[in-house]
Amino acid sequence: MSTRKESQLMILVIPVALVLLMLTAFTISLMAPQEDLKSKYSYKDFESAKKCRSCHPGIYEQWSQAMMSQAYTHNWDEVEYFDLAVPHAKAKPEIKDVVDGCNGCHTPIAFMGSGQFPPPRPSEKSMANESVSCEVCHLIQAAQSDPPFNFSYLIKPGMTKYAGRTPSVESPAHKIVTNEFFRTTEFCGNCHNEKNPWGVWVKSTQLEWKEGPYALAGVVCQDCHMPKGGPFLNALMASPYDDSRLHLFHGAHDPGKVRGTIELRIQPDIREAEPTEDIIFTVALFNQKTGHKFPTGSVEDRIAWLQVEATDAKGKVYHLNVDNKGFDGEEFTISGDYLAYQDMGVPLGISEFKGVQRDGIPSGNRIFRIPYFDPEGRMTMMQWNTAKLGVDYRIGPRETKVEKFTFRVPNDAAAGEMKVRAVLNYQLLVKPVADFLKVQPSESEIMEVNEHTTYVTILP
Ligand code: HEC
Ligand code: HEC
Ligand code: HEC
Ligand code: HEC
Ligand code: HEC
Repeated sequence: MSTRKESQLMILVIPVALVLLMLTAFTISLMAPQEDLKSKYSYKDFESAKKCRSCHPGIYEQWSQAMMSQAYTHNWDEVEYFDLAVPHAKAKPEIKDVVDGCNGCHTPIAFMGSGQFPPPRPSEKSMANESVSCEVCHLIQAAQSDPPFNFSYLIKPGMTKYAGRTPSVESPAHKIVTNEFFRTTEFCGNCHNEKNPWGVWVKSTQLEWKEGPYALAGVVCQDCHMPKGGPFLNALMASPYDDSRLHLFHGAHDPGKVRGTIELRIQPDIREAEPTEDIIFTVALFNQKTGHKFPTGSVEDRIAWLQVEATDAKGKVYHLNVDNKGFDGEEFTISGDYLAYQDMGVPLGISEFKGVQRDGIPSGNRIFRIPYFDPEGRMTMMQWNTAKLGVDYRIGPRETKVEKFTFRVPNDAAAGEMKVRAVLNYQLLVKPVADFLKVQPSESEIMEVNEHTTYVTILP
């Protein structure tokens, strides 16, 4: 009797033990201890991008126009780090390490070599201003974790530079080692995935890519952000290549890159209607350009919103509200008159801070975003203070979102042709936050992603 019971027990225990074993192995691989790079080296271990310029002028000039060359110096980065993150860590010493960690991605050379937290302000022109420079990327050999995140790069300063291509000539200035890692998305994921102290993925561009159609197709980050072009002289004494990786790195700060990312079409269910009759407009939004979701990256800052307006024959303009779909957390995806971002009061030293306007755009528009919530459940744009994410209502790669607008033709609408225009707008940083923190106006300028117009006839 008892042996039978025991063997039954073993049948149960063995699979459970196996699962536990696999789970432990999985967690260990996720939490693999990373080499601590903080203050491990000194500034003199690294070369300045200016030095690389003497032989790689083309690549230098491309990179110097990209955001990664300004990851430490750019106005909004300076404001958020010095006015919010650093004072927040003064008020809450337990987050000091996390705030020092901003530099692990924004100015790795200062993180590893300055021995000073915070590093000097950009105006002091220290080596921290190198931001994400040639040296940073071309000294990376691998990722120390799977998936890569939170500056998990394996890096070693020195005269050996790594890259994907086998060079045609030797460099008089350094050794070159070919490394296939440069052709993977994990290379970028070292900094483009970020997990915060609450275990929340506050940035997940590489993870979004990995679960999308471009991963299956083998189209990597480099294909869209470092397109192959030529003939291009990648170094002065080399011969030109037809397929050089151009260091354009254009992203959300390039209106030309953003334009047309989403295609949109609007159509009515009926073409003629009388006042007080309903017309249902349907808008299809197709993401044809990004390899990840739109928006991606600093999702706490970014909003894309769909605005639909009707103009009657006499030029009177009516704003259309999006129809509710009824999913959980939908109120965060429809613009409204709310206050948010109260947690900024802590670093700014404002007690009982009421917050600022959540959206700063006309009410009733659909917003494509993820809301980030602070530990008290209020919306925040301080990603390091995010305890929870809300609904992910962004547009995935090659995904099409469909929105409906039920419009009751107003009594006073003029008879004749009515024009109905749908516009998808985009903003890097919600305007009320930008204005409140006095961030340079370009950061909250409205970029038009796309638009489409349809017509209906209003009967007398
Ligand atoms: C004295 C000139 C010179 C200087 C200075 C110089 N390089 Fe080079 N570099 C070259 C030449 C020449 C090549 C070979 C180009 C080829 O044929 O692909 C090269 C190739 C490279 C490659 C490999 C490209 C590939 O895929 O084959 C990397 C990476 C690189 N350099 C990075 C740097 C960095 C980073 C700096 C600054 C710290 C730097 N270089 C400074 C001349 C120079
Ligand atoms: C050492 C960390 C690091 C690595 C590695 C890295 N990035 Fe970045 N990247 C950053 C940071 C930090 C920014 C933000 C710059 C800023 O402050 O606006 C950025 C910004 C960008 C932007 C500009 C986004 C915009 O808002 O316009 C693009 C595009 C980009 N990275 C692409 C890549 C690609 C592609 C790779 C891999 C080939 C890569 N990055 C590797 C840290 C990194
Ligand atoms: C964000 C990371 C990053 C930064 C910053 C960066 N590179 Fe690169 N670089 C790469 C990657 C990735 C490749 C392409 C690897 C591949 O596909 O072969 C590359 C390729 C190259 C190549 C070979 C280009 C070719 O012909 O295909 C050279 C040379 C080079 N980089 C030099 C530089 C210099 C000089 C700078 C600074 C002005 C710089 N890189 C900045 C990531 C970076
Ligand atoms: C199929 C082309 C494509 C691929 C693949 C792709 N991207 Fe993009 N990416 C875009 C386009 C288009 C934009 C501009 C629209 C936007 O901001 O999302 C963009 C924007 C970005 C931005 C700026 C987002 C923001 O809101 O600041 C970053 C950062 C970025 N990409 C990084 C990456 C990384 C890292 C990978 C690989 C894991 C990658 N991209 C793969 C096309 C691509
Ligand atoms: C794991 C790497 C990583 C860490 C850690 C990190 N960032 Fe970033 N940060 C990025 C990348 C990558 C981008 C660009 C994403 C994009 O373009 O959407 C970015 C974007 C930003 C932006 C927006 C830049 C813009 O021009 O719109 C700000 C501001 C910023 N980070 C501040 C911080 C602060 C403050 C911290 C520390 C609390 C921090 N970051 C920690 C990688 C990181």
